Amino acid sequence: MPAIVIIGAQWGDEGKGKATDLLGSRIDYVVKFNGGNNAGHTVVIGNQKYALHLLPSGILTEGVIPVISNGVVIDIEVLFHELEALTARGVDVSRLRVSANAHIITHYHRTLDKVTERFLGKKQIGTTGRGIGPAYADKINRVGIRIQDLFDENILRPKVEGALEQKNHLLVKIYNRRAIGADEVVADLLSYAERLRPMVADTGLVLNQALDAGKTVLFEGGQATMLDVDHGTYPFVTSSNATSGGAATGSGVAPNRMERVIAVVKAYTTRVGSGPFPTELHDESGEFLRSHGFEWGTTTGRPRRCGWYDAPVARYSARINGVTDFVLTKLDVLTGLDRIPVCVAYDVDGVRVEEVPVSQSDFHHAVPIYEEFPGWTEDITGARTFDELPENARGYVLALEKMSGARISAIGVGPDREAIVVRHDLLG
Ligand code: IMP
Repeated sequence: MPAIVIIGAQWGDEGKGKATDLLGSRIDYVVKFNGGNNAGHTVVIGNQKYALHLLPSGILTEGVIPVISNGVVIDIEVLFHELEALTARGVDVSRLRVSANAHIITHYHRTLDKVTERFLGKKQIGTTGRGIGPAYADKINRVGIRIQDLFDENILRPKVEGALEQKNHLLVKIYNRRAIGADEVVADLLSYAERLRPMVADTGLVLNQALDAGKTVLFEGGQATMLDVDHGTYPFVTSSNATSGGAATGSGVAPNRMERVIAVVKAYTTRVGSGPFPTELHDESGEFLRSHGFEWGTTTGRPRRCGWYDAPVARYSARINGVTDFVLTKLDVLTGLDRIPVCVAYDVDGVRVEEVPVSQSDFHHAVPIYEEFPGWTEDITGARTFDELPENARGYVLALEKMSGARISAIGVGPDREAIVVRHDLLG
């Protein structure tokens, strides 16, 4: 039984839940390996709607063991808030395992995220303001606080004091804010220690032993390829590795154990926050995509920027992640369009460029070169086989497959869990 990775192929919000649902009962462990509560997914089970920002969706499936591994940054207040909300609705959350090596987002990380963005003014990244970047910065700078530090005050206190010494100078002298007291931060963190203790584990060991025992482990990437700190549109990215490689470093499971890499890709493109986005639309077509696709952020409520499908981006994702299967989502959103443009290459200062340019300034200048495909007007939300899709919808999917570097194994045709057309078994 394999380790499977699911990641987003574009700038996030591709609807990864659809792909997770498809694997359904065949999964034993679901691992969140990167990011923090900057993610947001709404899961609908029966007539109940759950909004999760930090917890992996596996928490809602009976029998599945949800794991938050070392690559994640955890806001403990948010963690307990989500756990309490689920418990109140009768969900058993006792199976959750949390890595002792995961880093913690503290009060000062959240404050710094917000004040730095404000300070950047027009040049801001458009972060979710959840303290993600500052927490990862501390991790790399080796002044981060880890989950295991909560169990030894003699380690925790000097670490917090050390981190705050420098940060308070920044807050007070540069950003004109109040200093944050170490006592306050330490007391807050310690208040969670005993409740956290039963969940904490060596999750790398847990996951490798599970794979040895023939269990199926699903690694669910937060954010997406183009927001990856190494491979995305830096600096307009998140601060973690959202690509498939991040599943290995972020969990302690080696790359050669990952047998399938499933990339979720929308039938068009969206992005929140700042940064290059060649196919972005500022006209009524963009409005059409936003209103038909309900493109507002789950975590921040911000309207998402919308544009046409970008084949070089999909190809780039296929390459960087070693994609074995694409799950194409939200095809139904395009219903009713007369013609559907797809970006097949870019014009960069008069030169036709087939792949995502490595230079940031070239990508900023890239003007999409479109090929247009005929649209369809039939309602496709009831289709369950590829043959049930209108000819033009099939043609659109086959054209994207040809340009995107991996097979399209499933197609989302509506908001319902069941609204999906499967062409190839994702585990086959
Ligand atoms: P941060 O992750 O809060 O630091 O934000 C960095 C960039 O990533 C911003 O452009 C955010 O809008 C974007 N981002 C973070 N999380 C998500 C997500 O789950 N979906 C889409 N964009 C995201």
